[in-house]
Amino acid sequence: GGVTTIDPGYKNTGSCESAITFLDGEKGILRYRGYSIEELADKADFLEVAYLLIFGELPTQAQLDKFHADIKEQSVVDEDVKKILDAFPKSAHPMGVLSSLTSALTAFNPSSVNVESEEDMYKAIVKILGKFPVLVAWTLRKKQGLPLDYGDKNLGYVENILKMMFKQPNEEYKQNPILVNALDKLLILHADHEQNCSTSTVRIVGSAHTSLFASLSSGISALWGPLHGGANQAVLEMLNGIQEDGGDTKKYMAKAKDKNDPFRLMGFGHRVYKNFDPRAKIIKVAADEVLSDLGIEDPILDIAKGLEKEALEDKYFVDRKLYPNVDFYSGIIYRGMGIPTDMFTVMFALGRLPGWIAQWREMRLRKEPIGRPRQVYIGENRRDFKDIKNR
Ligand code: CMC
Repeated sequence: GGVTTIDPGYKNTGSCESAITFLDGEKGILRYRGYSIEELADKADFLEVAYLLIFGELPTQAQLDKFHADIKEQSVVDEDVKKILDAFPKSAHPMGVLSSLTSALTAFNPSSVNVESEEDMYKAIVKILGKFPVLVAWTLRKKQGLPLDYGDKNLGYVENILKMMFKQPNEEYKQNPILVNALDKLLILHADHEQNCSTSTVRIVGSAHTSLFASLSSGISALWGPLHGGANQAVLEMLNGIQEDGGDTKKYMAKAKDKNDPFRLMGFGHRVYKNFDPRAKIIKVAADEVLSDLGIEDPILDIAKGLEKEALEDKYFVDRKLYPNVDFYSGIIYRGMGIPTDMFTVMFALGRLPGWIAQWREMRLRKEPIGRPRQVYIGENRRDFKDIKNR
């Protein structure tokens, strides 16, 4: 028989058992494999967190070294990928380019398609962790007309990402520890968030035993939307718009509350956090630190703080438990780092990659059935076919 009840947006529907990320939206708690996000952001580096999420335990130094070496060995992509990149118009949104290239990797890595054993899964996982940063850097560099190079095997995972993105031709690239720390922290804070829209997408696509890379490509598409990861770009565009419009935050607060106006305060609200988003707390402090360390005074930061203050005191936002989320301040840091606005969601994808992988791996190892929700049919009852002349 059919189902009689539905749960739009799956607000109260659990889709799986998972041992990866714990989230308590009332108390504002986020833990990866039992470790608090605050402690991980402070003490761990991104690759350690990736290992933790995927394999369940913090790595020993030897395990981490091997993991990193295996990733480095896979940090090249087929030269033909450059031709695909070349075919995109310069105006293409980086998220569309990234999801296409990630899916295209399937064609160049046939051995990563049908993976059943943990060993084959591991090979596919280190491949994508090696190749994804190359795709990210190339997506940026292509737009900026810079040469497409590979990374530097002597560098840490995050240092290498920065160099691949920002190295200018004929110039030595100097690592800035402020940028390395900031990016490390941002990537850790974005690394997993249990069954959100993109992660559920990766799990459901992967549940058909579709390849890992194609499943990830679907996750990237889901993340692109402004209600999800695309919010970080939307926040900065909103803040820029408010600044250009004279900085009148009250006007935009009123718009956000007006039910006849589709405008929403981007970077506010969350499906699960109804008290505060612990990631936003950490990022707000980091935004202040990074900008002051870099010696940047950004009026956009003041507008953001002003909006936050007004919203936290506003009945509409208080009643609906709307608080700044992870995306509210992250864009301000990315901008301070010199990352273009339309690359912000790509940076989110880079951070979320280990989470998607961990969730895909868990789903496959637990041998979960294919994801296939039911529906309540509300269409026409049985009708007789009408010939085209008589319609
Ligand atoms: N500005 C104004 N009103 C809002 C906002 C907002 N940002 N967010 C929610 N509301 C209102 C909404 O209109 C509704 O009001 P009412 O009860 O009067 O109809 C109420 O609050 C509940 O909102 P909802 O849309 O039913 O909640 P949801 O759980 O379906 O949506 C959300 C959650 C994050 C999509 C939503 O809050 C939103 O659109 N926020 C802005 C976009 C954003 O910042 N997204 C990033 C989310 S965090 C990171 C990530 O997922 O990538």
